[in-house]
Amino acid sequence: MNKKNDFSSFRILVTAGPTIEPIDPVRFISNFSTGTMGYKIAFQAKAYGAKVTLVSGPVNIIPPKNIDVISIQTAREMRDIILKKINDVDCIIMSSAVCDYRPVEFKNEKIKKKGKKISLELTENPDILEEIGTRDGLIKAGFALETSNAVKNAYKKLKEKKLDLIVYNMVSSSVTPFGENLTTIGIMDKHGNVKEFKNISKDKCAVLILDEIGELLSRGRVKREV
Ligand code: CTP
Repeated sequence: MNKKNDFSSFRILVTAGPTIEPIDPVRFISNFSTGTMGYKIAFQAKAYGAKVTLVSGPVNIIPPKNIDVISIQTAREMRDIILKKINDVDCIIMSSAVCDYRPVEFKNEKIKKKGKKISLELTENPDILEEIGTRDGLIKAGFALETSNAVKNAYKKLKEKKLDLIVYNMVSSSVTPFGENLTTIGIMDKHGNVKEFKNISKDKCAVLILDEIGELLSRGRVKREV
């Protein structure tokens, strides 16, 4: 194991999967995230020797051994756990697909069919990566899922959420980054420099992403621009 891949002195928080936002006791809104990427990152970080905590939305994946897995459902539950843990980690990798919106109101009774159009009022969820803020010694990595202008949009998120690294991938009617499919990713550093990798497995993605993070961790404290 070379130095870049020796994570034995690092604590890493990984998030994976979707959040789900209940509407009534039998329904929710969510997204197509399967959690594959986040679980592979958590698994690889563990293989590199890190102490890993995985905060996971509902997925159909058997949790890796020796990894502390905390299961959540909603964005607000994910936010609460992360805020509790963030001061005890060296790095957070947010690969979860957090729902940006939730229903304004949870109905205790199942909503009955009414034979006419109904609408669902939504309110914004907290932006977890933004809310964490920054601190010396914390490396923040996020993902950007884009249907167009991936590089431009990823750069905007990198800056707005004050990230050290962002990984972007594209979604279209013919290309899906969800599940076990091969995927194309771009890894962007905090200055906007991009390395693109086409049609690679998610195991390979996890290795590439963690190698970049290993460089940042081994450089020690990340100096931030003000
Ligand atoms: N994220 C977050 N909190 C949210 C939404 C997203 O922390 N409420 C994180 C995601 O886990 C991801 C990054 O922010 O690491 C970007 O998520 P993405 O869904 O691509 O972008 P949004 O910020 O939600 O913006 P938009 O949906 O407008 O593209």
